[in-house]
Amino acid sequence: MGSFSGRHIIDTADLATEEILHLVEIANQLQDMGRDKARHVAAGKVLATLFWEPSTRTRLSFESAMFRLGGHVLGFSEAASTSVAKGETLADTIQTVALYSDIIAMRHPLEGSAFAASTYSRIPVINGGDGAHLHPTQTLGDTYTLLKEKGRLEGLRIGFLGDLLFGRTVHTFARLLARFGAEMQFFAPEGLNIPEYVRDSLESAGANFKEREWRLESIEDLDVLYVTRLQKERFFSEEEYLRRKNSYIINKEALSKAKPDILILHPLPRNEEISVDVDPLPNAGYFRQAEYGLQMRMALIAACLGVVA
Ligand code: NCD
Repeated sequence: MGSFSGRHIIDTADLATEEILHLVEIANQLQDMGRDKARHVAAGKVLATLFWEPSTRTRLSFESAMFRLGGHVLGFSEAASTSVAKGETLADTIQTVALYSDIIAMRHPLEGSAFAASTYSRIPVINGGDGAHLHPTQTLGDTYTLLKEKGRLEGLRIGFLGDLLFGRTVHTFARLLARFGAEMQFFAPEGLNIPEYVRDSLESAGANFKEREWRLESIEDLDVLYVTRLQKERFFSEEEYLRRKNSYIINKEALSKAKPDILILHPLPRNEEISVDVDPLPNAGYFRQAEYGLQMRMALIAACLGVVA
């Protein structure tokens, strides 16, 4: 197993299965350590969060993760306030920021941008989302969530419901789950099915998956339902968005047909696809999922900085 120290995290496909499990172990260790001890793990180190695209959870959870490890944070959350607005290239921004920090977490609207950034960076770059493409830290957090909540990945029957075309969280997560032998069902509104490159990679991995139309009874035999919002900002027109809006809604009534221990996940932010009447139920795992995401980001930062083995 290669060490994480100094490595970029661009795609979970770059990580061996045992490396993913090792990150899970690090996340557990950091939690077991307790807040007081964890505060010394990355003391004196600096994380730069470079967010060219809006984010709440991903950016703040990276920042919170670094604070909890005792490190410092600098960065920006909109390109308008940076030299990018003066025409600076990604390469120049990254090379400069690499002088000011020890590790970079970034989000950018262009597919492939995090990989490009990593080629200019002498410090680790963590991809916090590149366009509709990949979202590896969300996937690692989601994997951690399933292991914590369900104790396994193999044989779990997982439904994905929502915008599967533009939803990068699903693209990255499904490809990882394929490796662990989960059984996947994809339910998308018309025209928003998983992209061909994801389908191809699932097929070549020999994944167990089906694409289906969403019906009320589709929920019946699922162990996990992973819901996503329509990615309005990536739609080609407002009209197309409105046509599909509210074509699927998970509420208490929909859950009455499900297994009693079904786990409902959502990468958040949510719109109306999960009704707030689901929130008080133990099945609503999405806020716990956000917390596991934070814990996994602590593990990633610590591992890539080389401050944990
Ligand atoms: C997701 C994202 O940014 O891809 N959110 C997140 O990172 N938690 C999902 C989304 O925007 O719908």
